[in-house]
Amino acid sequence: MNVTRATFDEVMVPNYNPAGMVPVRGEGSRVWDQDGAEYIDFAGGIAVNVLGHCHPELVKALTEQGNKLWHLSNVFTNEPALRLATKLTEATFADRVYFANSGAEANEAALKLARRWALDKFGEEKNQIIAFNKGFHGRTFFTVTVGGQSAYSDGFGPKPGAVDHCEYNNLEAFEKLISDKTCAVMMEPLQGEGGIISPDPEFVKGVRELCNKHNALLIFDEVQSGVGRTGHLYAYMGLDVTPDILTSAKSLGGGFPIGAMLTTTAIAEHLKPGTHGSTYGGNPLACAVAEKALDIVNTREVLSGVEAKEALYRELLGKINDKYNVFEEIRGKGMLLGCALNKDYEGRARDFLVASANEHLMVLVAGANVVRFAPSLIIPEEDIREGLARFERAVAAVVEAK
Ligand SMILES: Cc1ncc(COP(=O)(O)O)c(C=O)c1O
Repeated sequence: MNVTRATFDEVMVPNYNPAGMVPVRGEGSRVWDQDGAEYIDFAGGIAVNVLGHCHPELVKALTEQGNKLWHLSNVFTNEPALRLATKLTEATFADRVYFANSGAEANEAALKLARRWALDKFGEEKNQIIAFNKGFHGRTFFTVTVGGQSAYSDGFGPKPGAVDHCEYNNLEAFEKLISDKTCAVMMEPLQGEGGIISPDPEFVKGVRELCNKHNALLIFDEVQSGVGRTGHLYAYMGLDVTPDILTSAKSLGGGFPIGAMLTTTAIAEHLKPGTHGSTYGGNPLACAVAEKALDIVNTREVLSGVEAKEALYRELLGKINDKYNVFEEIRGKGMLLGCALNKDYEGRARDFLVASANEHLMVLVAGANVVRFAPSLIIPEEDIREGLARFERAVAAVVEAK
């Protein structure tokens, strides 16, 4: 059957507006479309393809598991899920893991757990959830309500209640909002969708202290920042602040859908049998791939490589900016970088994305003002150089068209 981009407009719900070309194959940080045209991938499937496309070790893990056992449901447990959970608990603060299929589902589980924990321990008054403006936590109705962008949550009827928002990096405002009625605080330890905004380390420490003071759980949403992206296995490890609950997805499966919620034994015990669940959560195929991805990412070689690659991106982007003067700031950490546009190009991040696509480079935006890169953690140096040469041509095209 012959399908093209035009088929999308005929058969798909129009909630997405995908690019004009249809990718059919990927290898490392390169992708090819239906016409055989080649692209360099700095988008990584929105911070997902942590080891690029079709990494041979991940393909091997998937095919081996594919020949053994695909699905059981949680009526049974399975070996890949048990091994992955063991490795996640060994590598982090957590003692317990709950598997889901996406970032939103991992966050949904975290929020429900926090509410149940507070109800069991302190009663129903303690139900407030605090999150931050510009935060993003997924598209289920609870998570999109907790996310700090009402444009995504308005227009669907009554929202889940007792959710309040506060300015990120503003400890004074946060201190005014938190109280003994707060059951949990959800934050990204590096805001992704909101514009690649790093937290002030003192702010994160202050939030932790105030959570302790008011017996509120601190939930770190590391769906975008986790699994090596910042050069640490999880971003909290570079901030010296430990959350009570952590959520992970995106890079965790290296491109295979999986989400996870990590927590301590004392908190986990409030999700008793029957309180929450998922048919597919902990699926053996997903867990087998994620186990292999974790084995590869959680090595000195890959994690320290992230730092070196960030330095190269920053150096080359700095040179582009010296020539064209379009960025106010290059921000973010590791392989999650944002080029924040200056006043002259305010609101035009999408123009840079389109110009990059014309140069056969895949990039992302993070809001209207930031061009975002979230490539593979092992993108080869020559792909970074070639990709940024294409990006320079894209920048030149936007500047010329001005
Ligand atoms: C920080 C963060 N949390 C949650 C999500 C939602 O993840 P998913 O799309 O897998 O549900 C995202 C997706 O962009 C994210 O960046």
